[in-house]
Parts: sequence; C-alpha cells; structure tokens
Amino acid sequence: MDGTFDRDFWERRWDQVVREHPDAIARRPPNAHLLAEAGDLRPGAALDAGCGHGGEAVWLASTGWRVTAVDFSPTALDAGRAMAAGLGADVAERINWEEADLGTWSPPPGRYDLVTSLYVHIDGSVGEFVTRLAGGVAPGGTLLLVGHRPVDPETGADTPAAGQVQVSVDETTAALDALGGWRIEVAEQRRRAAEGSGVDAVVRALAPG
Ligand SMILES: C[S@@+](CC[C@H](N)C(=O)[O-])C[C@H]1O[C@@H](n2cnc3c(N)ncnc32)[C@H](O)[C@@H]1O
Repeated sequence: MDGTFDRDFWERRWDQVVREHPDAIARRPPNAHLLAEAGDLRPGAALDAGCGHGGEAVWLASTGWRVTAVDFSPTALDAGRAMAAGLGADVAERINWEEADLGTWSPPPGRYDLVTSLYVHIDGSVGEFVTRLAGGVAPGGTLLLVGHRPVDPETGADTPAAGQVQVSVDETTAALDALGGWRIEVAEQRRRAAEGSGVDAVVRALAPG
C-alpha cells in the first residue's frame, strides 16, 4: 500500500467525519445503485465489503437481510454499530461488524446471497479483488460492485476519484468471464448527479448454480 488510501488515511477521514458531521452521516440515504440493483432481491445473507459508516448495511438489515459489514476502519465500524443500535435491536442484531483488510481478506466460500462493495479503493489488481469477492457469493446469488471512475469518459477530464483504483466495468466483467458461468445482468457506466463528478461503474452479476 503506498499510504495514500491506507488504514491510517481512512481512520483520520472517518474520525473527522464522525466528529464534524454526525448529522450528515445519520441523514445520508443508502446508495442509489444498491437501492436500484438489490432493492427487489429476497433478503438473505449479505456482505458489504468496505462498508464505511454502515449506511448500506443498516438499510439492508432494516429490510430483512442478515449482514456482514467489513471495513478496516474501527472508527467507521463504531459509527455503524451506533447507528444500528439507535434503530433498535431488531436491526442491530442482524449486522455483524467485522474489522478486516480487504487487500487480503476473503469471504467464506459461497456464504452470501448478496455480496456488494461500493467505492472501495483497491491496492493491487482489480481482477484479483473481484475474483476474491465473487468467491463469497452463494450459488445463484448476486454480486454488485460499484466504482467511481477516475476519468470522465466523455470529456477525458479528471474526476474527484482521479488517481484512485476502483472497480471498472471492463476489469470486473473480464474477471467474472474468466471464472465462467456468471451471468452479467448489468455492466454500465452511469453519470453521477453532481456536475463534473464523472461516472460510476456498476456491475451486477448472478453466480452460477
Ligand atoms: C469511499 S469509502 C465507501 C464507503 C461505503 N461503501 C459507501 O459507499 O459509503 C471506502 C471505504 O472502504 C474502506 N476501505 C478501503 N480500503 C480498505 C481495505 N483494504 N480493507 C477494508 N476496508 C477498506 C474505507 O475504510 C472506507 O470506509
């Protein structure tokens, strides 16, 4: 890890956000791609890899999912735990908050009906990251990966994600094609709402079986 987006960076970032913007965390709606792509799925076991302060994990739990929420920032995980507790025991007890480094951590094979990862910076090969997360999806389960692209594909301009490595459509679909048997249901770049902020890569795929 070159230190740019390592654990210390995220700890500092989350510490500042939790101290200075607690209301913004509490008010932030769950990710729009998750709502659009997973909102109709039948709840089961879900993994949110790189869960941050847990807005998506809490939403999944509140809609009936049993969630494993993984991040390497203890401060983010604590914020998530507190938010879930504030919503009541029925939500809080459905989430297992797990501190782990997604650079090396692998989900238990075939464990989750939904594996999602939203906007995680990847220190290494995107294909390897995708393959590792795909290993956690149960037969017939769903993988939903979203990444903020560093360059606007229309203008060629840098976006706020400039210099970052996150999932791309091409690398994600290539990794799943190489695994064989995956059905790619969505593979597209979607323009972000904020002008000049570029596009998100969104890939939703069904595991074989
Ligand atoms: C841009 S934030 C996105 C958080 C959340 N998924 C969302 O959409 O709001 C990236 C998150 O990934 C976590 N993260 C980055 N690299 C990680 C790694 N190697 N292992 C575990 N978590 C990591 C950070 O701590 C941070 O919470």
